[in-house]
Amino acid sequence: MLRPMVCTVVVDGFFGDCGKGKIVSYLAVADEVDICVRAGVGPNAGHTVVYRGETYKLRMVPSGFVNPSTRLLIGPGVVVDPRVLLSEIERLGIENRFGLDPQCAIIEPEHIERDRRGHLKEKIQTTGTGTGPCNADRALRKVRVVRDLPELQRFLTDVPLEVNEALDRGGKVIVEGTQGTFISLYHGTYPYTTSKDVCASAACSDVGIGPTRVDEVILVLKAYVTRVGAGELPGEISPEEARRRGWDEYGTVTGRQRRAAPFNYDLARRAVMLNGATQIALTKLDILYPECKGVRSYEELTPEAREFVERIERELCVPVTLIGTGPDLDEIIDRRG
Ligand code: IMP
Ligand code: MG
Repeated sequence: MLRPMVCTVVVDGFFGDCGKGKIVSYLAVADEVDICVRAGVGPNAGHTVVYRGETYKLRMVPSGFVNPSTRLLIGPGVVVDPRVLLSEIERLGIENRFGLDPQCAIIEPEHIERDRRGHLKEKIQTTGTGTGPCNADRALRKVRVVRDLPELQRFLTDVPLEVNEALDRGGKVIVEGTQGTFISLYHGTYPYTTSKDVCASAACSDVGIGPTRVDEVILVLKAYVTRVGAGELPGEISPEEARRRGWDEYGTVTGRQRRAAPFNYDLARRAVMLNGATQIALTKLDILYPECKGVRSYEELTPEAREFVERIERELCVPVTLIGTGPDLDEIIDRRG
């Protein structure tokens, strides 16, 4: 018997900032997802969601919050900054549908201080949010975890159990990855990486599901490549050229101008391999082809834009099922049929 497609992992195929927030929020609404569970590193992530004219910048809360019936969870692999988390929960008014695993590690002010000096700041150019020092102390078994914090007790839940039971019932689950394949500690451009693996299998581990539970892995790729912080970026163009092409972007967490390069088929192919991608979500097509802004059907794309999509499919041997044509959640072409 075929299993229904219920468990989807969403990860980034380049260096982060490919638009996971938009894709995850769209899926949460379009597929009426029961649970959106956050994997990944921690508040070093910045996910942007644009919904009904409102822009939300999230660092901890899962991007599926836009669907008011979606349960929002953070898996035990994630490190949590209680100050950032509590302010997001309050701002979004999601208290009654938010849950946190007791084993998430806590970022202390001291972790943030350590992240903002020395080689992490000067050489690696981290986001300075304390995630790396927290993960280091976690490996040394020196951190506090969520169950030790009185102010977080009301959100405690066994996240792996909730997620697996939802899947047993045939519920729909999105596992939301963060960062990007090539800043993975294991598979990225070490030492210019984040402090954990962030590929699809790590995302499963972060939330406590086994590999056999996953039905789809959606790899999010942007129509051009950006990178913030130090480390190689093949084909990098100058900041001026990036501005000329409209590829200049500024970090959600740090405000730094992101470095930019053209779409890279070799990196994309390797990201497909490392993540076991079954679908590609291609974002920001409207930045390469302005005529495509807001288009919602594949046939309405210009021939050049369609040729770009089809070349990606030919080179990667994975279908491009979702295509972003603007920042808003529903500026998207959904080819899943
Ligand atoms: P850290 O994750 O703050 O330790 O930063 C390590 C490297 O990963 C730096 O180059 C950061 O700019 C980059 N990085 C971390 N999180 C993100 C993200 O969410 N998007 C893009 N780059 C990130
Ligand atoms: Mg980001």
